[in-house]
Amino acid sequence: MAKPRFQAVRGMNDIIPAQIHYWHKLEYILRDVTARYGYQEIRFPIVEPTALFERSIGQATDIIEKEMFTFNDRDDVSLALRPEGTVGCVRAGLEQGLLHNQIQRFWYMGPMFRYEKPQQGRYRQFHQFGVEAFGMAEPEIDAEQICLCARIWKELGLSDQIKLQINSLGNSESRARYREQLVTYFTQHQDLLDLDSKRRLVSNPLRILDSKNPGMQELINNAPKLVNFLDDTAREHFERLQKLLQAAGISYEINPHLVRGLDYYGLTVYEWVGTGLGAQNAVCAGGRYDALVEQLGGAATPAVGFAMGLERLIALLETTATEQTLPDIYLVMVGSEATAMGLPLAEKIRNELPALKIIVDCTGRGFKNQFKNADKSGAKFAVIIGDSEVANNSVAIKNLRSAEEQQTLPVAELISFLQKRID
Ligand code: HAM
Repeated sequence: MAKPRFQAVRGMNDIIPAQIHYWHKLEYILRDVTARYGYQEIRFPIVEPTALFERSIGQATDIIEKEMFTFNDRDDVSLALRPEGTVGCVRAGLEQGLLHNQIQRFWYMGPMFRYEKPQQGRYRQFHQFGVEAFGMAEPEIDAEQICLCARIWKELGLSDQIKLQINSLGNSESRARYREQLVTYFTQHQDLLDLDSKRRLVSNPLRILDSKNPGMQELINNAPKLVNFLDDTAREHFERLQKLLQAAGISYEINPHLVRGLDYYGLTVYEWVGTGLGAQNAVCAGGRYDALVEQLGGAATPAVGFAMGLERLIALLETTATEQTLPDIYLVMVGSEATAMGLPLAEKIRNELPALKIIVDCTGRGFKNQFKNADKSGAKFAVIIGDSEVANNSVAIKNLRSAEEQQTLPVAELISFLQKRID
């Protein structure tokens, strides 16, 4: 086979019709469940000024250090493909006057871009579904969003495969005190740190806790824990969140080393982890970011949200049985008169039975070939028109999924036959 002349950009995937039913099911459930919680869709551009992300996500994070797709436009302004949605959502909310002194619940869905090393579950163009709520400081809204996720897993049939981990990052003062302790601890054990962690010790020591290096796990397990540095307000917020989750029947595990890879978080952070997904197993992650709106020029506004990685959820869905919607009818028509009769007949069926899915064979080939196509389509019935059907103003019907005999009907009876036989 000749090699295609062009290939997709590395880490960016095509989604072909054979996979699309998983996406449709997922997207439908995400929209439906989120609407039931009163969240409204917001759309914002895929491209934003690079400085917006640099300022919000944090200079010493992986995303800003090495993962952004940036380019200069013709006016030499640096722009970036969005690596995530929270920052664009806040920018849009501020610019559109939607955040000042207001309570808002937003959702968004779309492609995000990160220049990561592609592997299973990690792509350079991937899709997120996210929600962001503004104007509410209490842990009830954090809990509501976690309940929203849990309901989505339930409706997707994935509840048993996704587990919740939570942590509290406290306020910025406690994080600063913790950071000092952590630096002291890791400095004492410098010889056990890998190269990446040595670099992080200076730039972003909390991220050392995220290291997957098996050789460092013991060192990380024995490191001081952020929970022990929380002040009373943060501790109370975290405890109330846990009580709410317990009351809602949501199981969770406290992961004291969960720190997240973006700098805007404080207080609640969490990740939903999928089983059987390998190294890239976080299917959804989020938390509270009460300082970000102010940092981007708005009034102080508490905020909390999450984002799900749709490719990772699809990978889980692929392990469950999700049925593709197959056509109901495949219309076989052979000969020019049959063709002239077939197309209007298909339109009539679509008018009268709008729920049915009909594929018309437009190949102009012979019966044998068209029957093969009918079979391959997965349709339940073939409606067949040839010269004799045209002459008698009839159609032949064959049940493609049973051994039932083919039968012939007057055209006038076709609609009521289909109505009875296809629910
Ligand atoms: P994040 O943890 O960077 O958080 O990404 C959220 C989710 O997006 C991850 O849990 C994962 O499922 C998916 N994801 C991230 N990178 C990739 C990739 N390269 N390939 C495939 N999937 C990926 C955020 O983006 C925050 N904005 C979440 C948030 C919203 N926090 C508050 N509001």
